[in-house]
Amino acid sequence: MKIDILTLFPGIFQGFLNESIIKRAIEKKLVEINLINFREFSKLSNSQVDDTPYGGGSGMVLMAEPIVTAIESLKTKTSKVILLCPQGQTYKQKKAYELKESQHLILVCGHYEGFDERIRSFVDEEISIGDYILTGGEIPAMALCDSVIRLIDGVIKKDSYLEESFTNHLLDYPTYTKPREFRGRKVPDVLLSGDHKKIAEWRKQEQIKKTTEKRKDLLG
Ligand SMILES: C[S@@+](CC[C@H](N)C(=O)[O-])C[C@H]1O[C@@H](n2cnc3c(N)ncnc32)[C@H](O)[C@@H]1O
Repeated sequence: MKIDILTLFPGIFQGFLNESIIKRAIEKKLVEINLINFREFSKLSNSQVDDTPYGGGSGMVLMAEPIVTAIESLKTKTSKVILLCPQGQTYKQKKAYELKESQHLILVCGHYEGFDERIRSFVDEEISIGDYILTGGEIPAMALCDSVIRLIDGVIKKDSYLEESFTNHLLDYPTYTKPREFRGRKVPDVLLSGDHKKIAEWRKQEQIKKTTEKRKDLLG
């Protein structure tokens, strides 16, 4: 999979791309990530990419020209162009599974007050990572990349995510590690029993219990 990220601030991604699982996925060539500064696509003197809003108001608005020209220079028949935007469809694990099948994603990060409305007609989809406002689309782009990349075959073990929260409409079961007792709180006996059938049954029951308690809405 190839992911092109259009951003004015490529430096924000350095830690994300150079640590842990994402770094290894890139090294193993399971994913290719390119950071493209759309300032390079500005046709204006001093590489201007934003201006004041028509009609007045505070903040700067990203111009359509540099972003749309950048999208057009990268887009192929297999590309999916996603605009990170608070007005988009709220991002869910189901969408991560859907995007995992894509060959090429182009992620567009807004910044400042936002972007010229006309950019919307040059993207395939708009995604929000939740009902709150961030300063830019870079953190949403990282959240989206992280959630998709870890699902690509070979990045992490499949059984690490098959029973995770939001898969099969359930939250994850409780997990424990050493020691067997921590400040008076014991690991449930069943997990020490060695009986894998019983453990699987207990985990499923716990998933249902947790989901009912915390996120009844997931059960449908
Ligand atoms: C300060 S925000 C602009 C907010 C915009 N004026 C509004 O009220 O909808 C700047 C940029 O950050 C990104 N952004 C902020 N919050 C986001 C969210 N919850 N999900 C996705 N992108 C977001 C978008 O790219 C947005 O254009």
